[in-house]
Amino acid sequence: MPLTYQEFKAAVSELCGTNLFLYKSQQMDRRIHSLMTFWGIDNYDDYLKLLQTDSQRYQEFVKKLTIYVSEFFRNPDRFYELWERIMPELLKESKKVKIWSAGCSNGAEPYSFALILQELKASSRAEILATDLDQVVLEKARQGAYLRNEVRNLPPELLAKYFQEHDGYYLLNQRIKAQVVFKKHDLLSDPFPQNLDMISCRNVVIYFTEEAKNKLYYQFNQALRLGGYFLAGGTEPLLYYRQLGFENVAPSFYKKVGAPDPDWVPHGGVFND
Ligand SMILES: C[S@@+](CC[C@H](N)C(=O)[O-])C[C@H]1O[C@@H](n2cnc3c(N)ncnc32)[C@H](O)[C@@H]1O
Repeated sequence: MPLTYQEFKAAVSELCGTNLFLYKSQQMDRRIHSLMTFWGIDNYDDYLKLLQTDSQRYQEFVKKLTIYVSEFFRNPDRFYELWERIMPELLKESKKVKIWSAGCSNGAEPYSFALILQELKASSRAEILATDLDQVVLEKARQGAYLRNEVRNLPPELLAKYFQEHDGYYLLNQRIKAQVVFKKHDLLSDPFPQNLDMISCRNVVIYFTEEAKNKLYYQFNQALRLGGYFLAGGTEPLLYYRQLGFENVAPSFYKKVGAPDPDWVPHGGVFND
């Protein structure tokens, strides 16, 4: 029996670790089918096989389809760096560590911060704000239910300690969920919170123009306190970090060492208006 579209969608949800049925279906279905046509595929079995076996095509698919895929401890080494070095430093410097996960998607990123803080016994000394443009992913984030793929990078002891397995989902402990405040926020138009100790904005800017990216990084610098950190995506180094007032202290970690260079004219012109 050939795969139906619904079966295909369910299998792909499993593959990406995100329930595609929770998303606006018209838009989603259009994207899925436009790639199918583009790649010259005429049945869902072949489509699924391709996505399962060709990692480049899979990446293209995820990019085209979703801008919301996320998982706990994405690029795990960055989270261990945070756990062992950056977070303890921030906890030493600030009475209340203010963290912003910008473009938080399903919440796996800000909850990863919350887990680290809990393990450091410092939950009461931190505030985690998590924002996204998309109300649907924010609702999913508040629910705190994850598929296996989304928790696969977590150290097994954290998975055992803070999650309960139920019907194929990993349900996050209520106490950890309560650590994070979720809000709708558009990075391209809404005002930014200020005086933060750490901002993470990972895997969000891929569709942004160079101008929009630089403007964003400029605003992130302004939103951080001196000595605060910006955490970038695994494949999104800040090319102009010096001009933006940052020092690159570890892969993906940028420490604010000053204001952006006022003489720097980034690609796309001046935007400090
Ligand atoms: C791929 S997810 C990244 C999730 C998480 N940061 C991570 O790295 O795993 C990108 C998220 O950015 C959000 N996003 C895209 N454009 C945005 C904007 N202009 N303002 C706020 N969020 C935005 C999307 O809704 C999506 O949930």
